[in-house]
Amino acid sequence: MLRARIVSTGSYVPEKILTNHDLEKIVDTSDEWIFERTGIRQRRMAAPKQTASDLAYEASKAALDAAGLKPSNLDLIVVATSTPDMLFPSTACILQEKLGAKNAAAFDVNAACSGFVYGLSVAEAYIKSSLAERVLLVGSEVFSKFLDWEDRTTCVLFGDGAGAVVVEPAKGDSGIISTHIYSDGKHQDLIMLPGGGSKYPPSEESLKKKRHYIKMKGNETFKVAVKTLEKLVVDTLKKNNIKPSQLALLIPHQANMRIIKATAKRLGLPMDRVFTNLEKYGNTSAASVPIALDEAVRTQRIKKGDYVMLEAFGGGLTWASALIKW
Ligand code: COA
Repeated sequence: MLRARIVSTGSYVPEKILTNHDLEKIVDTSDEWIFERTGIRQRRMAAPKQTASDLAYEASKAALDAAGLKPSNLDLIVVATSTPDMLFPSTACILQEKLGAKNAAAFDVNAACSGFVYGLSVAEAYIKSSLAERVLLVGSEVFSKFLDWEDRTTCVLFGDGAGAVVVEPAKGDSGIISTHIYSDGKHQDLIMLPGGGSKYPPSEESLKKKRHYIKMKGNETFKVAVKTLEKLVVDTLKKNNIKPSQLALLIPHQANMRIIKATAKRLGLPMDRVFTNLEKYGNTSAASVPIALDEAVRTQRIKKGDYVMLEAFGGGLTWASALIKW
């Protein structure tokens, strides 16, 4: 059976850095609280006019350059985002125009923080079924524009950024071994951005009620995330008959260091086989896994033949994993 393979990676984060100490001047919080509870020290902030497609464009260029490809070589663009430029057209269509990728179909995937891994399963399916030959998959987010800067329980957690990969049919035995996607709408109220859709269209009342900002029941989300991710990573390896000791690197969604450590512990993985960068970027939602993957590739933390697992958890609820032989 045809396999799909990630042939290149790229990422981009905006220049502006917002540290925990900067946040101490905005809300009642401290560097100590944020770092101890989350593992975050700083995050990046998009410039006022920078949009999800702008960040996606920079990450995409880096991934295309790394593969030695031109935008016209792409036949599909998938963008995973919960902070799109607009409700429609899709951020993927706007990105297609910016890149000049005139031969590519383009659409968005919304699975909140799991969006990139969901998108990877879409890219994999298109390649395996020969419906596409060269897919650009991007996770791009500008959460800074949807944060309530008076709500210390959310505004300290998120950051902006984008990561991209090019996916093609695999040659040899390397490539995506399996992807796994799950959802449970029962917990839709744990993380949401309720305003601006057809349930709460923009109105004075909805603005007053701050419905256009992200809402999260952090503590409840935390508990579900730990339980769900522990099972997810174990199941992903079991389904493929791979032992944790064979896993060279786990690349988790970068939401909270305590969640990441609990997941690694469940697998018996030492932290030097877990990639983390949330200290620098905070939670960049759908961009977090591809930014981490790009950094891992560019710093040679992944070598040819390595088993690598990606995993993510987010609003929906959604959760997803991918096992890759690099
Ligand atoms: N600074 C200082 N104190 C804060 C604070 C902040 N930024 N945010 C919350 N607090 C306070 C709370 O008000 C609460 O005070 P109280 O005990 O007087 O009521 C106390 O800290 C504990 O809050 P709690 O929400 O129970 O903390 P926590 O240990 O659960 O940590 C999160 C909060 C958000 C860091 C954590 O729950 C989390 O990471 N959740 C999951 C996020 C996630 O994975 N999302 C999914 C992917 S998007």
